[in-house]
Amino acid sequence: MEQQFNALDARIAQALEGGGAERIAAQHKKGKLTARERIHLLLDEGSFQEIGQLVTHRSTNFGLDKQKFLGDGVVTGFGTIDGRLVYVFSQDFTVLGGSLAEAHAQKICRIMDLAMQNGAPVIGLNDSGGARIQEGVVSLGGYADIFYRNVRASGVIPQISAILGPCAGGAVYSPALTDFVLMAEGTSYMFVTGPNVVKTVTHEEVSSEDLGGAMTHASKSGVAHFTAANEIEAIRQLRQLVGYIPSNCEEEPPALPYTPGDELRPELDTIIPENPNQPYDIRQVMNAVIDPDSSMEVHAEYARNMVIGFARVGGRTVGCVANQPAVLAGVLDIDASTKAARFVRFCDAFNIPLLVFVDVPGFLPGTDQEWRGIINHGAKLLYAFSEATVPRITVITRKAYGGAYDVMNSKHIGCDMNYAWPSAEIAVMGAKGAAEIIFKSEIAKADDPAAKWQEKEAQYKEQFANPYEAAARGYVDEVIRPSQTRMKVMAALEMLRNKVDKLPRKKHGNIPL
Ligand code: HXC
Repeated sequence: MEQQFNALDARIAQALEGGGAERIAAQHKKGKLTARERIHLLLDEGSFQEIGQLVTHRSTNFGLDKQKFLGDGVVTGFGTIDGRLVYVFSQDFTVLGGSLAEAHAQKICRIMDLAMQNGAPVIGLNDSGGARIQEGVVSLGGYADIFYRNVRASGVIPQISAILGPCAGGAVYSPALTDFVLMAEGTSYMFVTGPNVVKTVTHEEVSSEDLGGAMTHASKSGVAHFTAANEIEAIRQLRQLVGYIPSNCEEEPPALPYTPGDELRPELDTIIPENPNQPYDIRQVMNAVIDPDSSMEVHAEYARNMVIGFARVGGRTVGCVANQPAVLAGVLDIDASTKAARFVRFCDAFNIPLLVFVDVPGFLPGTDQEWRGIINHGAKLLYAFSEATVPRITVITRKAYGGAYDVMNSKHIGCDMNYAWPSAEIAVMGAKGAAEIIFKSEIAKADDPAAKWQEKEAQYKEQFANPYEAAARGYVDEVIRPSQTRMKVMAALEMLRNKVDKLPRKKHGNIPL
């Protein structure tokens, strides 16, 4: 028996070695951790249980039969984060560059299937040269098997991708199909075709970093939801993210204990500037309403005129969506609309109540936006809010103009409780523009057109630049002092705790993609 145990130990030791000491040293030299070191950091101490440690490929192409590594370049299994079950796969760049082929893909599919059957998140730690070239079409098939499962699992279990190395070709589509993508700065990149192909086809010269590095995808394309300065920080963020979300679509998000205290926030009473065109940072409002230091911003560098993220109120997870008057006056444009729409749909899929702050001058006008389809993209946000059945609370702090008033979680599209501050202005447009249009001929005929314009502007302002017309119709449930906002939101969330709302029976809707 001793001999058999020794044989087992030798195999395990070989599997733990990955691609060998030299390649591990090269990995470390690049500022990267190994697949196993990452798992060790990600999961609770001692909780990792490996599956498929001794799997190898079956290919003999191009000398692969002489290059067999136990585990086939991906470490898979399950463990816990803060005591909650998660499934994980971690690609091992030291083995054939973490490249994916038949056996490697089967291992990933296996844990995805287990995650679906058992209702727990899948976290993928990606570090791979893409399809294993020697195995040919089998590698492509392996990717497609994963894509198919990504889609089937979408909305059922949370799927999170960390990009901790190269991610090229079709390989980027699995992360893109998951709920959140996190990239490590300086060591990771994602692109459909790399700089060499770009140069051949379009004659553009671009570095990997500029083409598909973390900051590019965080700020320009929006492909990355989070970036981290290094891998340790990346893995800390993954653990934090998991803490906000439920294990599957049937469960409530995890709640932290909360001891009620003084919920008044007097600082909010002075946050809105006297001049309605002066900006302020909506994050200050959000931070005063949520539990202290409880937020995790999503897409912080992308479409900064919209702020989205997870937070806690009374210990329970909420998804915050807010116009940001400090950037482009908080205007709704294509990027802001799609950013918020996807987040709203994630929250709705996973039973996370929505808390929406509104200060929006409208949709961004112009040929650039129109020609790129703001009609369709803006409609995505309208669609996402309208189909959401989770508890939905809106706070209008200042402007709620035009179509943007309707879109930003208005009562008309299913918001449950709509609060407005006395500074709210709920109107078709700003008073100046409105006066110019509806009193055009009167202004033109006046002896002093400028004075007439001012008079009409004041008249429009008097009637609409306040929350009371909307409150009189019940579009606003309550006009509150800003300092009461946290109290009111907490009470509303408690009142809506058992909300049941169902969509009409259908196969699925047809969101304007
Ligand atoms: C097999 C691969 C590999 C691959 C890397 N390796 N990529 N083996 N298939 N796709 C191996 C290398 O041979 C090398 O083996 C080891 O991994 C490390 O690679 P290096 O090149 O030495 O590392 P580095 O200099 O860091 O460069 C990493 C890299 C580069 C940028 C990823 O290796 C690279 O360009 N690889 C090819 C990428 C690619 O074209 N993939 C196919 C994409 S298309 P040794 O034995 O020397 O350690 C695709 C289609 C998917 O993925 C479609 C799905 C629908």
